Amino acid sequence: TANPQWGGRFAEGPAAIMKEINASIGFDQLLWRQDIEGSLAHARMLQHVGLLTSEELIAIEAGLKDIGAEIENGTFPFSEALEDIHMNIESRLSERIGEAGKRLHTARSRNDQVATDFRLWVREAIDGLLGQTRALMRALATRALEFHALPMPGFTHLQVAQPVTFGHHLLAYVEMLARDCGRLADTRKRLNESPLGSAALAGTSFPIDRQMTARALGFSRPTANSLDAVSDRDFALEYLSTLSIAAMHLSRLAEEIVQWASGAFGMVRLSDAFTTGSSIMPQKRNPDAAELVRAKSGRIAGDFLGLLTVMKGLPLAYAKDSQEDKEPVFDATRALTLSLAAMEGMVCDLQPCPERMRALAGSGFATATDLADWLVRELRLPFRTAHHVTGQLVSLAEARGCDLADLTLEDMQQVEPNITAGVFDVLSVEASLASRTSYGGTAPANVEAQAKRWLEELNAT
Ligand code: ARG
Repeated sequence: TANPQWGGRFAEGPAAIMKEINASIGFDQLLWRQDIEGSLAHARMLQHVGLLTSEELIAIEAGLKDIGAEIENGTFPFSEALEDIHMNIESRLSERIGEAGKRLHTARSRNDQVATDFRLWVREAIDGLLGQTRALMRALATRALEFHALPMPGFTHLQVAQPVTFGHHLLAYVEMLARDCGRLADTRKRLNESPLGSAALAGTSFPIDRQMTARALGFSRPTANSLDAVSDRDFALEYLSTLSIAAMHLSRLAEEIVQWASGAFGMVRLSDAFTTGSSIMPQKRNPDAAELVRAKSGRIAGDFLGLLTVMKGLPLAYAKDSQEDKEPVFDATRALTLSLAAMEGMVCDLQPCPERMRALAGSGFATATDLADWLVRELRLPFRTAHHVTGQLVSLAEARGCDLADLTLEDMQQVEPNITAGVFDVLSVEASLASRTSYGGTAPANVEAQAKRWLEELNAT
């Protein structure tokens, strides 16, 4: 038999496969709270403008409340034949309260209804992710303060470059995550317009009050063009692109944790709580959570690209293609939620190995730049010349199999006669770190101040 919600002109019901490919109830039930909230706002507005009586409104409010309870306690009879969450709830309402329930869909279409519900859902998800991201930033800043002076090797090209502090490295991620928060907030602001009342695509002939429903649902204003409102999903794409970038940041940190925890680096240790063993190799401690966070970024970027590809080339206004907007958004939200929580756990859990970090920080002639800078400062050599002189000294030390600091003053003077013993003061890891006092540099005093600034800011809001 035909669908009771729209079957008036249909003689027969859909093929089994038609039903199956058409139904979204399997995944869009997640929108039930938003759907009820949207219907309540719509019904109150209909009553306000005289399209429903007060008795009808009271019945609708009570009916929707009961339906919410049914869904919450698992007794709601979800039906695939009713396609989606919107028709499931509306049909159940009529079943429970009769005629009044059948009036709810006045001046409304599923097209503006789903666009409204989905915006409400994404808005709430943004708020959740913002809170989680800030919690991770707090964890990173806390560890950064703890390790503001702990030397670690700074890399470029994954080759030891110059010493930095572990705190400085962790705070780099706090900066990245702060920009992710900015993008989330920005996405939220732009999506916060109400499509409700756009109806199917052209607006409605009923004297509705879109300002009233927009306000009731916490939107800043109603959308200004009904075609745009039911057809575009750029808010979901913006959300997914923001999540893709945030996941990319987490993935980079995850990759670093994998490296640091490897035997070859030996820079940090994760506790038993954040490692797994091997079913064959008894000695193993694998950083699976970090690897999964690294992988989730691929999945989230795929969700973004998937929806972008669905939307590309869709003519205005609504087409059923748009129903495919939900799964990528739900999937990416879940993946990032897990990733943020796992990353916060690992950041709190990990313990650096200070001796190993310090040893690596000074390896590979990591203070060669400090030597070149000394030649510029003390002998007034042009930097390019100083670079060349230092290169010759590195090459000499390499030939001897020793560090720069192990060369004698005579060795040095053979390359540059004006060098004095003062040069040895700048060749230690600690001296190198302490000298990097330029704004944003890695000097421990800078890092300590930055960590405190972040903690203050994060605790203030
Ligand atoms: N389940 C649909 C969706 O997610 C609701 C809108 C259906 N509209 C329509 N004209 N068939 O997009």
